[in-house]
Amino acid sequence: MQRQLSLDILVDDEERRRSLCDDVRAGLSSPKKYIPPAWFYDEAGSRLFDEITRLPEYYPTRAERAILTRHASDIAAATRADTLVEIGSGTSDKTRLLLDAMAAAGHLERIILFDISREVLADAAEHLNLLYDVDVHAVVGDFRHHLGNVPAVGRQLWAFLGGTIGNLLPAGRRQLLECCRRQMGRDGRLLLGTDLVKDVGRLLAAYDDASGITAAFDRNVLAVINRELHASFDPELFDHRAVWDADERWIEMRLRARRPHTVVVEDLDLVVSFRAGEEILTEISAKFTPSQVAGELVGAGLAPRAVWYDDDDDFQLTLARPLPLVQGDLGPRPES
Ligand code: SAH
Ligand code: TRP
Repeated sequence: MQRQLSLDILVDDEERRRSLCDDVRAGLSSPKKYIPPAWFYDEAGSRLFDEITRLPEYYPTRAERAILTRHASDIAAATRADTLVEIGSGTSDKTRLLLDAMAAAGHLERIILFDISREVLADAAEHLNLLYDVDVHAVVGDFRHHLGNVPAVGRQLWAFLGGTIGNLLPAGRRQLLECCRRQMGRDGRLLLGTDLVKDVGRLLAAYDDASGITAAFDRNVLAVINRELHASFDPELFDHRAVWDADERWIEMRLRARRPHTVVVEDLDLVVSFRAGEEILTEISAKFTPSQVAGELVGAGLAPRAVWYDDDDDFQLTLARPLPLVQGDLGPRPES
């Protein structure tokens, strides 16, 4: 008998729209314009991201896949988890390496997927439900706000892959890691994927590829705003740029206006003017050193237990467990 497939919607269309309105109004009214990155991933955006993961220049996906191919069974053995919780799961493609290892170890009982992008999430959940004989629970939510709604069942392995944690600012990273720690329970474990500092040329190429897919992905956020808020952006009036900030150690993705022009965002009653060369910051992608990863985990009450690298030391996977901070703050979990 096929196991259960369920979809839990914490962010419905109305809520999504409200939060898009708030983000766009704040970001485009600011003297330094920005658009928060959660809005990249409509259907077209998710498809473009999938293409990014296959670009010759975009090494993180291949590097992380190589680590999982080699070490998924070590991870399954070290955690003895029966529940895989993946946040920012997207297509959950690499995740199958983990799931295969957990199933082979005989422990896998359920899968919980959490993502803001409903369409991709629903497809991935359906696909995994067919591939593995386990319940799949999909949650449409924002991992900056809704991780407290992840069901507290089973012995959980939380996976946060793809280096997506690097798309958050340091304070947001800390907050998210603290939420993971609180929610995963005493026996829970976190598997965190982080991209590492490396040659700047390779970093820039990964975020500004020769075939222009990343540029199309970046500009797609303007199409999302046009469609959902009746705005008049002409995406072709913006050039995509990737810039390395050596002090912050992150890549900035920016859209730069080619010439002075004005954009109307009808649903917000907002008129936005751009000077020639003025930029919108659309995303940061922080790159880490191994000691920085350890420091940030410990800062959030998580103790790193094992780390793995690919052969080129491009990417790092870290397995961490919660540290009890004060007595009793990690209560026992209900049995499933
Ligand atoms: N884990 C996959 C996908 C990474 S792309 C991989 O490693 O390839 C980043 C994913 O995070 C997208 O699926 C996007 O929809 C999701 N995401 C981005 N911001 C989010 C947020 N604030 N809350 C929940 N999911 C988010
Ligand atoms: N998590 C991915 C990363 O930081 C997201 C990403 C890849 C991205 N390429 C991008 C975001 C280009 C914006 C623009 O590597």
